[in-house]
This record gives sequence, structure tokens and C-alpha cells, in this order.
Amino acid sequence: NLPDRVKIVEVGPRDGLQNEKETIPADVKVELVDRLTDAGFANIEAASFVSPKWVPQMATSAEVMARIRRKPGVVYSALVPNMKGFEAALAARADEVMIFGAASEAFSQKNINCSIAESIERFREVAAAAKQHGMRLRGSISCAMGCPYQGEVPVESVADVVRRLKALGCDEIDIADTIGVATPRQVQRVMERAAAEFPLERLSGHFHDTYGQALANIYASLEVGVSIFHSSVAGLGGCPYAKGATGNVSTEDVLYMLRGLGIETGIDFDRVVDAGQFISSHLGRKAVSRAGNAIAAK
Ligand code: HMG
Ligand code: MG
Repeated sequence: NLPDRVKIVEVGPRDGLQNEKETIPADVKVELVDRLTDAGFANIEAASFVSPKWVPQMATSAEVMARIRRKPGVVYSALVPNMKGFEAALAARADEVMIFGAASEAFSQKNINCSIAESIERFREVAAAAKQHGMRLRGSISCAMGCPYQGEVPVESVADVVRRLKALGCDEIDIADTIGVATPRQVQRVMERAAAEFPLERLSGHFHDTYGQALANIYASLEVGVSIFHSSVAGLGGCPYAKGATGNVSTEDVLYMLRGLGIETGIDFDRVVDAGQFISSHLGRKAVSRAGNAIAAK
């Protein structure tokens, strides 16, 4: 009994591009977001207001947010690590801010230079400010199913961070397999445990495809009732603080599978394929998407 409808959060413009070495012109990022808007996504991760010394590619975020064509009802999200990032997101008129913690202590230190507990303290102020300004608040949990520095991540560590993010008032919580190591039964255990702490309909699955498990993991999540997933057009991505991690699962592949399962997304598959080919040709490489490349080759 799978959900009838799924929300796809397109994370390509942020999670997907943040790790690219060559600076991508703001024009290209704006066109990518506009194409994704036209494809029908209800939620697009468009920006990241983090330290430009840590993630230089995202330094154009304010310009991108200022120039995208906004469709009413679409949520354009921005990642923020602290109040400085929040102020920038507010000025850029982000509809949603995303705070990001980890279920692994070691990853928290490498990614945001503080412990899990300290990160939650920093987020407290951000969360309160988001509520005060009527912005949506999303909490992401990196390394919920494995960590490049500490290896295994106990499911209770995930449950603990879910509880803390819930207490901050998150509207949605993302369970992320940052390095793409999880397998389906494990994913079901983590999702079921997270759902004991937070409403299942507001939990999302964020999968990377490093070990080729992402689609299987999405299917496993659907089986336990998860109905929000993150994916990246053309399979863009990789995390600067997770060595060897490949991109997010490709949006095209996810849409192809969901369409076959008869699950509604409200998204125009062909337009996503075109957007994937557009950004891939800009990056000078083939899209990392089986379905996208198969359709584009026809
Ligand atoms: P820090 O060095 O400990 O912080 O970094 P600090 O407060 O000492 O600040 C250092 C400098 O950064 C200062 O500038 C600040 O002004 C500046 P300086 O005085 O040296 O010139 N700064 C900022 N600048 C712009 N915007 C800001 C900001 N904050 C401070 N918001 C910090 C701590 C959190 C800032 C840093 O570690 C950071 O920016 N980390 C971001 C890491 C990141 O973006 N990682 C990728 C996203 S997470 C991810 O992709 C995973 C996810 O997608 C899930 C998944 O894929 O599984 C969510
Ligand atoms: Mg990711």
C-alpha cells in the first residue's frame, strides 16, 4: 500500500551545485531554477547562506534568489547554519529556511565545526526567528544512516536529533543518507524509528546514490509510508564534507519510477529531463541519470 501522491523537493540548485569546483555563473543557476519552476516542483532548494570560505560555490545565493522567477505557491528554500545566514535568507525572501544537523558527532564537527548539541543551540535562535517571520522551517539530519568518519550511526542517535529538531518547531524533517551507504531494510528501520518521534507525513527521505541503492531505498521508504523525497536533477551533487559521496538520486530516475508506480507528483517529466540536459551541458558532462539520458537519447 504505497502513498498515492509524493512531494519531490528538488535540491539540485543547492545540494547539487554546492560542490562544483568551477564557479557557475548566477545566470546559469537562475535559468536552472526557472526551468525547475516551470517543471512544476512545489519546493526547490535554491540557495545556501553559509560561509563563502567553506562553500565558495554558494556565494552567489543572494543574486540567484533576487533574480529567479517566482511562481506563487512554490517554496524556494535556503540552507542557513546560523543567524548570519538567517538574516541573509530573510533579506533574499526565502520561503523556507533549512537548518542542518547531523546524527554523527564526527560529521557535525567537520561540516559545521561544532558538536550536535552546540548546533541545536545555534539553531534555536534561527528557528525562533523563522517562526517570528512566518517562514517555513525545515530540519535536515545528515549521516542518518552512516558516516564517513565514524562509520555506523545508531538509530537512537537519529531519534535523538529528530526529537530536538521537533522541539525547535520544524515543519518538516529530512532523514539524509549523506554518503549513500544505506540499504532498504535499514532505511525502513530508521524511518519507522523517526516516525515514532515525528509525524510520518512530514518526514522526508534524502538519498544519495553512491552505492547504487537510492531508488531501492526510496521504494523501501514508500512501503513504510514516507511521501516526501529529495532528489537532484541530473543527479547533481556530492557533499564537500563527505569525501567520495556521489550525487543525490536523480530526479529523472525518481520520477520515472513513481510514474510507473502510478504515484502522482504534479511534475512534468520531460521538462525535468530538459533541465537536466541543460545543466549537464553547462557543466560539460553527461547527466548522472539513467532515465534522463535514455529519454534524451530518443
Ligand atoms: P566557523 O568558522 O566555525 O564560524 O564556521 P565563525 O562564526 O567563526 O565564522 C567564520 C567566518 O565565516 C566569519 O568571517 C563569519 O563572518 C563567516 P570572517 O570574520 O572570517 O571573515 N560566516 C558567514 N558568512 C556568510 N554566511 C554565514 C556565515 N556564518 C559565518 N552564514 C559555519 C561555522 C557554520 C559558518 C561554517 O562551518 C559553514 O558555513 N559551514 C557550512 C557547511 C556547508 O554548507 N555544508 C554543506 C551543506 S550540508 C549538506 O549538504 C548535507 C545536506 O544536504 C544533507 C545531505 O546531503 O545528506 C543538508
Ligand atoms: Mg544531499
